[in-house]
Amino acid sequence: MEKLAILDCGGQYTKVIDRKVRELGVYSDIFPMGVGADKLIGYDAMILSGGPSSVWASGAPTYDPNIFSLGIPTLGICYGMQLINEHFGGIVRPEVKTEYGPTEIDIVAPCPLTDGLDKKQTVLMSHGDAVQKHADGFVTFAVTGDVVAGIYNAEKKIIGVQFHPEVDLSEHGVEMLENFLRKFCNLKETYALEDRIETSVKMIREKVGNNKVIVLVSGGVDSAVTAALLVRALPPENVYAIHIDHGMMRKNESDLICENLKKLGLVHMKRVNAENEFFNGAVDDGDGKIIGPLSKTVDPEKKRKIIGSMFIKVTAKAAEEIGIDFENTFLAQGTLRPDLIESGNPDVSGYANKIKTHHNDVDIIRKFRERGKIIETNWDWHKDEVRQVARMLGLDEEIASRQPFPGPGLGVRIICNDSTVAFTTEQREQLAAFLGSYAGGKYTGRIAPIRSVGVQGDNRSYKSLVILGGGLPANFEEAFDVARAIPNNLPFINRVAYRVDSTDPISVFSCSPMHICHETAEILREADAIVTGTVMNKKIAQCFAVLIPVSTVQDKPYSVVIRAVVTSDYMTARAAVPGVHFAPEALTSAAKQIKDKLGDKVDMVLYDITGKPPATIEWE
Ligand code: XMP
Repeated sequence: MEKLAILDCGGQYTKVIDRKVRELGVYSDIFPMGVGADKLIGYDAMILSGGPSSVWASGAPTYDPNIFSLGIPTLGICYGMQLINEHFGGIVRPEVKTEYGPTEIDIVAPCPLTDGLDKKQTVLMSHGDAVQKHADGFVTFAVTGDVVAGIYNAEKKIIGVQFHPEVDLSEHGVEMLENFLRKFCNLKETYALEDRIETSVKMIREKVGNNKVIVLVSGGVDSAVTAALLVRALPPENVYAIHIDHGMMRKNESDLICENLKKLGLVHMKRVNAENEFFNGAVDDGDGKIIGPLSKTVDPEKKRKIIGSMFIKVTAKAAEEIGIDFENTFLAQGTLRPDLIESGNPDVSGYANKIKTHHNDVDIIRKFRERGKIIETNWDWHKDEVRQVARMLGLDEEIASRQPFPGPGLGVRIICNDSTVAFTTEQREQLAAFLGSYAGGKYTGRIAPIRSVGVQGDNRSYKSLVILGGGLPANFEEAFDVARAIPNNLPFINRVAYRVDSTDPISVFSCSPMHICHETAEILREADAIVTGTVMNKKIAQCFAVLIPVSTVQDKPYSVVIRAVVTSDYMTARAAVPGVHFAPEALTSAAKQIKDKLGDKVDMVLYDITGKPPATIEWE
């Protein structure tokens, strides 16, 4: 069988490349970047992935230079292209203006990759470095302005692209990969995807045998699929489902979930109410270090670690109550491939940067995993695949198409704060100067004194937010360009939101202390129910509210942000566009309902207009 090697430089999308290649009928294997050229003999083509490093910096992943003597057709993506360029004598340097998000490129010379495609293409860029001079023997076949977007060397059979053809945000990315495989590498469709359900059922039976297994069910499609697969693979009486209400669930959610889960054929199902334990308890992080309580914690990563570890503590207690020996029972969870990639799991990629610790990949879970105690039925799948499997298993469409809700729940949507996060006068002036010179100065905005998590050039970022105001823009598409331009030009910003409840110019913000507690969870629950009920529809993949400790008046400490995104892979996303993905009136209506119901505590209502990258879907 023909096969392709993917060399992983630590990119967030390496596994997406693997999946896209396999979907196009070519077998692929992923190797670490440093793999010896001898291991690649027998492969018909090679793709070098993106990655968080800089080729010119010390500590960049090492590689065997002989891989370029194999003479096989090669595609370098982002970091992969920069490495190729540097290897063959070109120059790569940091860009003054970075590019994060969908970007238009111009095809300026023929290249098999873009054969048959229009001369203008929208692709996803996510990089801080760029090719300053292409290596001798290469031609630049694509550009964005004066930035090199693609290089090609016909004789050496090498193509390099600065953008990511593998993700949904590159509109004709699949056609480009197909061109690469068929026209450049001459590879035919010789590989068929394995039957996902059969493979998973076999794995469960082999691992679990006649033992008992506990499955944590959050109500989302991932854990529902895991539970359904367990019930199919094992005697149902050996499967114990536990739903934990950690006090950070959405409005009425736990009741609904327990009703829905009954239909999966589960014999044992237990609901645990553990708000007090999660908010006020302390927990071992897996290394003997006690962390918590959540109600006094501000740092997003610490919050995620406390919540993830607390899930295990509460589960162990629940197991004891049901009379199961937790230490000798398997624990199943609905972990997806992106959860492991974004958590920087070393088993998935040796070089990937940690974007955020997913609740199902905290240290204590990694320890359990090392002991072979964790069953992850979905570990190789992305969200769209898990939805397909749900439908194949006959789960209700309500579950199969349910919008994702992260394990830590509202906990990562309550942006906590001890004291005002400072930004410098210089940064404030830089923003003012930028907005003054952008689009005739028609946008006004300020830096808000909080930070949120983002992903930029395969790296985690934790940076400031800009709030724009002065009334809703007449043209939202245009406003989205500002949301791309600000982080691209101001390196201390990774997120931009628009004020939707008022046309006032943006005034000075104050920041109050805020933590996770029953009151903040309750306010967010109400705001979230309004936002979901008003804005969410089938064109939107995920829609929710975020509570931030920022306001413009003394007596109302909070503001609510509406977040709605369009995506299917969840590794990249666009903010939903009012007028395209939902009626613009939905924003003003949601803002009015929030102010009517929560106006004594909530000052502003904002709409997050940032894509992923540079932000992430969640704020923490
Ligand atoms: P981000 O914020 O990384 O989110 O762009 C991508 C998708 O993952 C969900 N998410 C999580 N899901 N446990 C989960 O089960 C987590 O810890 C977690 N963090 C983020 C997020 O809601 C989005 O759908």
